[in-house]
Amino acid sequence: MVLPSCGSIYYAKNSVVDNQIVVAKSEFKWIKSNTTKQRKFVMLTVPQYKFPICVYAITNDQYVASLLKCTHRGCELNVGGGQYTCPCHGSEFAVTGKVLEGPAEQDLLTFDINTDNENIYIQLF
Ligand code: FES
Repeated sequence: MVLPSCGSIYYAKNSVVDNQIVVAKSEFKWIKSNTTKQRKFVMLTVPQYKFPICVYAITNDQYVASLLKCTHRGCELNVGGGQYTCPCHGSEFAVTGKVLEGPAEQDLLTFDINTDNENIYIQLF
Protein backbone atom coordinates (compact mmCIF):
# COMPACT_ATOMS: atom_id res chain seq x y z
CA MET A 1 0.00 0.00 0.00
CA VAL A 2 1.32 3.45 -0.90
CA LEU A 3 0.38 6.28 1.39
CA PRO A 4 0.16 9.77 -0.04
CA SER A 5 2.90 12.05 1.24
CA CYS A 6 1.78 14.88 3.45
CA GLY A 7 5.24 16.29 3.96
CA SER A 8 4.75 19.17 1.56
CA ILE A 9 2.86 21.52 3.88
CA TYR A 10 5.32 24.20 4.92
CA TYR A 11 4.54 27.04 7.32
CA ALA A 12 6.59 30.02 6.18
CA LYS A 13 8.24 32.53 8.45
CA ASN A 14 6.59 35.92 8.15
CA SER A 15 6.13 39.24 9.89
CA VAL A 16 3.26 41.70 9.97
CA VAL A 17 4.30 45.30 9.30
CA ASP A 18 1.88 48.18 8.69
CA ASN A 19 -1.07 45.83 8.20
CA GLN A 20 0.83 43.76 5.63
CA ILE A 21 2.19 40.26 5.96
CA VAL A 22 5.74 40.15 4.66
CA VAL A 23 7.04 36.80 3.38
CA ALA A 24 10.46 36.32 1.81
CA LYS A 25 10.27 34.75 -1.64
CA SER A 26 13.10 32.50 -0.51
CA GLU A 27 10.55 30.73 1.73
CA PHE A 28 9.32 29.04 -1.47
CA LYS A 29 12.70 27.43 -2.05
CA TRP A 30 14.00 24.25 -0.54
CA ILE A 31 17.08 22.16 -1.09
CA LYS A 32 17.00 18.48 -1.90
CA SER A 33 20.10 16.53 -2.90
CA ASN A 34 21.99 19.80 -3.52
CA THR A 35 19.29 20.97 -5.92
CA THR A 36 17.12 24.00 -5.24
CA LYS A 37 13.44 23.20 -5.62
CA GLN A 38 10.47 25.55 -5.70
CA ARG A 39 7.45 25.01 -3.48
CA LYS A 40 4.06 25.54 -5.12
CA PHE A 41 2.63 27.05 -1.95
CA VAL A 42 3.41 28.01 1.61
CA MET A 43 1.09 28.36 4.57
CA LEU A 44 1.00 31.32 6.94
CA THR A 45 -0.50 31.82 10.33
CA VAL A 46 -1.05 35.33 11.64
CA PRO A 47 -2.74 36.49 14.85
CA GLN A 48 -5.41 38.40 12.88
CA TYR A 49 -7.01 35.20 11.56
CA LYS A 50 -8.03 31.94 13.19
CA PHE A 51 -7.55 30.15 9.85
CA PRO A 52 -4.31 29.74 7.93
CA ILE A 53 -3.60 31.68 4.76
CA CYS A 54 -2.22 29.77 1.79
CA VAL A 55 0.03 31.64 -0.61
CA TYR A 56 0.02 29.80 -3.91
CA ALA A 57 2.58 30.49 -6.63
CA ILE A 58 0.52 30.58 -9.83
CA THR A 59 3.71 31.32 -11.79
CA ASN A 60 7.24 32.11 -10.62
CA ASP A 61 6.28 35.67 -9.76
CA GLN A 62 2.51 35.63 -9.47
CA TYR A 63 0.92 34.66 -6.18
CA VAL A 64 -2.57 34.31 -4.75
CA ALA A 65 -3.16 34.39 -0.99
CA SER A 66 -6.42 32.83 0.20
CA LEU A 67 -7.91 32.42 3.65
CA LEU A 68 -8.52 28.69 4.09
CA LYS A 69 -12.00 29.15 5.53
CA CYS A 70 -14.76 27.51 3.54
CA THR A 71 -17.42 30.00 2.49
CA HIS A 72 -20.18 27.44 3.02
CA ARG A 73 -20.15 26.91 6.79
CA GLY A 74 -16.64 27.89 7.78
CA CYS A 75 -14.63 24.67 7.99
CA GLU A 76 -10.88 24.79 7.45
CA LEU A 77 -9.92 23.74 3.93
CA ASN A 78 -7.31 21.21 2.91
CA VAL A 79 -4.78 21.98 0.22
CA GLY A 80 -3.53 19.41 -2.26
CA GLY A 81 -3.75 18.31 -5.86
CA GLY A 82 -3.72 21.90 -7.08
CA GLN A 83 -6.91 22.94 -5.31
CA TYR A 84 -8.55 23.43 -1.93
CA THR A 85 -11.13 20.96 -0.66
CA CYS A 86 -13.49 21.15 2.26
CA PRO A 87 -13.61 18.09 4.54
CA CYS A 88 -17.08 19.01 5.84
CA HIS A 89 -19.39 18.91 2.80
CA GLY A 90 -17.03 18.56 -0.14
CA SER A 91 -16.79 22.05 -1.65
CA GLU A 92 -13.82 22.58 -3.92
CA PHE A 93 -11.99 25.79 -4.76
CA ALA A 94 -9.33 26.65 -7.32
CA VAL A 95 -6.06 27.99 -5.93
CA THR A 96 -7.20 31.37 -7.24
CA GLY A 97 -10.02 31.19 -4.66
CA LYS A 98 -12.83 30.56 -7.17
CA VAL A 99 -15.54 28.03 -6.31
CA LEU A 100 -15.25 24.90 -8.45
CA GLU A 101 -17.82 22.73 -6.71
CA GLY A 102 -20.58 23.46 -4.18
CA PRO A 103 -22.34 23.53 -1.83
CA ALA A 104 -20.23 26.70 -1.30
CA GLU A 105 -21.40 29.51 -3.58
CA GLN A 106 -18.94 32.27 -2.74
CA ASP A 107 -15.28 32.45 -3.69
CA LEU A 108 -12.67 32.40 -0.94
CA LEU A 109 -11.44 35.54 0.74
CA THR A 110 -8.26 36.52 -1.10
CA PHE A 111 -5.84 39.31 -0.29
CA ASP A 112 -4.19 41.97 -2.44
CA ILE A 113 -0.54 41.18 -3.07
CA ASN A 114 2.50 43.21 -4.08
CA THR A 115 5.98 41.89 -4.64
CA ASP A 116 9.50 43.17 -5.05
CA ASN A 117 12.69 41.27 -5.75
CA GLU A 118 12.87 39.78 -2.27
CA ASN A 119 9.46 39.75 -0.65
CA ILE A 120 5.76 39.17 -1.03
CA TYR A 121 3.52 41.73 0.69
CA ILE A 122 0.01 40.58 1.56
CA GLN A 123 -2.39 43.35 2.40
CA LEU A 124 -4.61 42.61 5.39
CA PHE A 125 -8.06 44.17 5.62
FE1 FES B 1 -17.21 23.57 3.48
FE2 FES B 1 -19.72 22.96 3.99
S1 FES B 1 -18.33 23.94 5.31
S2 FES B 1 -18.61 22.56 2.19
